[in-house]
Amino acid sequence: MNPVPHIPESAPFSLEQRAWLNGFLAGMFSAAAQPAGASTPVMNAEPLLILFGSQTGSAEGLAKKLAKESSARGYAPKILALNDYEQASLTVASKAVIISSTWGDGDAPDNAINFWNWLKADSAPRLENLNYAVLGLGDKNYSDFCGASKKMDARLEALGAKRLVPRGECDVDYEATAKAWTESLWAKLGNGSAAAGTPTLAAAPIENTNGATKLALAFSKNHPFPAKLLTNLPLNRAGSGKEVRHFEILLGNSRLSYEVGDALGVIPENCPDLAAKIISVIGATGDEPVALEHSVTSLRLALEQHFDIAKPPQELIAAVAKHAPDLAALLVVDKADDLKKWLYGRDLLDMLQLAPGKIPFTELLPLLRKLAPRLYSISSSPKAHPGEVHLTVGAVRYEAHGRKRGGVASTFLADRAEKSGSVKVFVQTSHGFRPPTNGDTPMIMVGPGTGIAPFRAFLEERAAVGAKGKNWLFFGDQKRSADFLYEEQLTAWQKTGFLTRLDLAFSRDQVEKIYVQTRMLENAAELWSWLEAGAHFYVCGDASRMAKDVDAALHTVVEKVGGKSADEAKAYVAKLKSDKRYQRDVY
Ligand SMILES: Cc1cc2nc3c(=O)[nH]c(=O)nc-3n(C[C@H](O)[C@H](O)[C@H](O)COP(=O)(O)OP(=O)(O)OC[C@H]3O[C@@H](n4cnc5c(N)ncnc54)[C@H](O)[C@@H]3O)c2cc1C
Ligand SMILES: NC(=O)c1ccc[n+]([C@@H]2O[C@H](COP(=O)([O-])OP(=O)(O)OC[C@H]3O[C@@H](n4cnc5c(N)ncnc54)[C@H](OP(=O)(O)O)[C@@H]3O)[C@@H](O)[C@H]2O)c1
Ligand SMILES: Cc1cc2nc3c(=O)[nH]c(=O)nc-3n(C[C@H](O)[C@H](O)[C@H](O)COP(=O)(O)O)c2cc1C
Repeated sequence: MNPVPHIPESAPFSLEQRAWLNGFLAGMFSAAAQPAGASTPVMNAEPLLILFGSQTGSAEGLAKKLAKESSARGYAPKILALNDYEQASLTVASKAVIISSTWGDGDAPDNAINFWNWLKADSAPRLENLNYAVLGLGDKNYSDFCGASKKMDARLEALGAKRLVPRGECDVDYEATAKAWTESLWAKLGNGSAAAGTPTLAAAPIENTNGATKLALAFSKNHPFPAKLLTNLPLNRAGSGKEVRHFEILLGNSRLSYEVGDALGVIPENCPDLAAKIISVIGATGDEPVALEHSVTSLRLALEQHFDIAKPPQELIAAVAKHAPDLAALLVVDKADDLKKWLYGRDLLDMLQLAPGKIPFTELLPLLRKLAPRLYSISSSPKAHPGEVHLTVGAVRYEAHGRKRGGVASTFLADRAEKSGSVKVFVQTSHGFRPPTNGDTPMIMVGPGTGIAPFRAFLEERAAVGAKGKNWLFFGDQKRSADFLYEEQLTAWQKTGFLTRLDLAFSRDQVEKIYVQTRMLENAAELWSWLEAGAHFYVCGDASRMAKDVDAALHTVVEKVGGKSADEAKAYVAKLKSDKRYQRDVY
C-alpha cells in the first residue's frame, strides 16, 4: 500500500485545518486501498474504554469523537459515563481513556461523582492491569483548573494504573488542545488491530471553520447561527431587586433543533464603551488592523467581538505589574490571598489604567483570551413554540471600584442584541437532563430564580404531548409580588391540575428566610412517597449554595421519612443518580 501523504507542521495551515486535511487524505487513501463499499477493517479489534464525565456535553462530545476515531484505527471502543464504571470493569480492562470536565469548585461533574467517590475510597481496588490516559476540560478562570481530572489522574496512578501519555488540560477554547492531545495518544497507542485502516473521513473533524470547503452545514459552537432576537421582556415587576428577562429567539431556516433540557450557547459581544476606554488607555485609535485566525479586522472590532476584555488573565497581570510596583508587590506566593481580594471586581480596564500607554496593542492582544460563549438553559419546548427558542436570563449588573459594570452576555442580550441585528447561537445538547421518557413517570422539579428555565420547558413539553405523569414544582425567589417568574403560566397549569403541586418559597417576604428546601422538608413525607413511586428529581439554578442545600435536604428526607441511616441515605441518593433519576443543571 502506498504511504498516506501527510501535511507537515511547517505547512501554512492552522492546527485545525491541518488536522482536517490529514484526516481527509487518510480517508482518501484508505478508501482507495479498499474494495468499493468495504468498511473499515476491525478484525481482532482491541478493546478501548472511553469514559467521560460531562455536565454540559463538551467532554461527552470529545469522547464520542474519540470513539469514532478509535474504530477507524481498529479498536473496539466502549463508551460510558464515568458513573457507569461498574460496566467498565476497570480491574480487568487493559486500556482506558478518561475525558472529564470539572465543576463546582474543582469537583467532578454529576455523571462522574459516584465514580470519583468509588475511586478515592480506601476500598478502591488496585488497577495494575490498566493503562490509562486522562484529558481534562476546565476553565482557567477557576482557581482549581481541571481539578477533577487532576485528582482522577493522580488517584489512578496511586492505584497502580500506568499512564500512557501526560494528562491533557483544556481551557474553555478546548478543541485545538484536545486535538493535539488526541494525536499524542494515537502516537503512543498505534492501531488497535494489525488490519486497521487509517482514520476514515467520517472520523476526521467534520467542522470546517475556514469556509473554503463546506462539509459541515450544521451550526455549532465554531459555526454559530446568527439568529434574530424577537422578544426581550422583563419578568420581574416593580419593587424587584432583580432583572430577569425573557428572550425569544427565532431559529428561522437554520434547521437548528433542540430538545427540552438542552442549553443554548450564546456568543456575546462586549460593551463598546468598555472597548473604547481600553483603546484610549493604551493610546490606540481603534482603527489599527488586527490579524485573527482567519481574517483581518480592526482593533475596535477585535476588542468588541473576539477577545475577553472582562477578566484579566494572569499573563496580563504580570505584564502590567512591570509598570505598577504596588501590583508587583502582590505577585508573590505569600500574598496570593491579598491578590485575589484586590482582583475581585476588577477588570482588564482597571489593570491597564495602572500602566496607561505602556502596553501597546501588539503586546496586549497575545495576552488576551478568546471571548467564550455563555450557556443558557432553554426555557421553551419546541413543540409549544416551533422555530423558536426561549431563554430566561438574569442580567448581571453591579458597581465595583467606582464604576458600573455588567456581565458580558447577559447585558449583551438585555441591552445590545436587538441593535446588533443578530445573536450568534448554537445548541449545546444535554447528555441526560431530560424529562422521563415515560410520560407517566412523576417529575419533581426544584428551580428557584432563573433555575425555573428548563422546568418551564419540561412542563410545556409534557403539556404539548399530553403526558399524564404527575408534576411537582418548587419555585422560589425574593418577593412574591415582584419575582414570581412566569406566574400566569404556572398558576394556570396549577388550576387545571396539570401542575399537580406548586410549592413557593419567597425568601424576602418575611423576616426568616424561606427557601425551596424549606418547602421540601415541610413536605418530606409526600416527597418521599413520590420518590418511592419512581419520580425523577431535578434541580436547576445556583450551584454554589442552593444546589448543595437542596441535596442536603434530599438526604434528610430519605433519612427521616425513609428511615435510613446517613450512609444508607447516601447510597439511596447515589442510586438515584446512577439510575439517572436525579439530574442537575446547575451553574
Ligand atoms: C449549563 C448552564 C446553564 C445556564 N443557564 C442559565 C439560565 O438559564 N439563566 C441565566 O441567567 N444564567 C444561566 N447560566 C449562567 C450563564 O451562562 C452566565 O454565566 C451568566 O449569564 C453570566 O454571564 P455574563 O456573561 O453576563 O457575566 P460575566 O461577564 O461572565 O460576569 C460574571 C462574573 O461577574 C462577576 N461579578 C458578578 N457580580 C459581581 C459583583 N457584585 N461584584 C464583583 N464581581 C461580580 C463575577 O466574577 C462573575 O463570575 C447558565 C450557565 C450554565 C453553565
Ligand atoms: N457561575 C456563573 O457564571 C453564574 C452566573 C450568573 C448567575 N449564577 C448563579 O445563578 C444563580 C441564579 O441567580 P438568580 O438570580 O436566578 O437566583 P438566586 O440568586 O439563586 O435567587 C433565587 C432564590 O434563591 C434564594 N436562595 C439564596 N440562597 C439559597 C440557598 N442556599 N438555598 C436555596 N435558595 C437560596 C434567594 O434568596 P435570597 O436572595 O433572599 O437569599 C432567592 O429567593 C445566582 O445565585 C448565581 O450564583 C452563576
Ligand atoms: C458553575 C461552573 C463551575 C466550574 N468549575 C470549574 C472548576 O472548578 N475548574 C475548572 O477548571 N473548570 C470549571 N468549570 C468549567 C468547565 O469545566 C468547562 O466549562 C468545561 O468545558 C465543561 O465541560 P462539560 O460540558 O463536558 O461539562 C466550571 C464551569 C461552571 C459553569
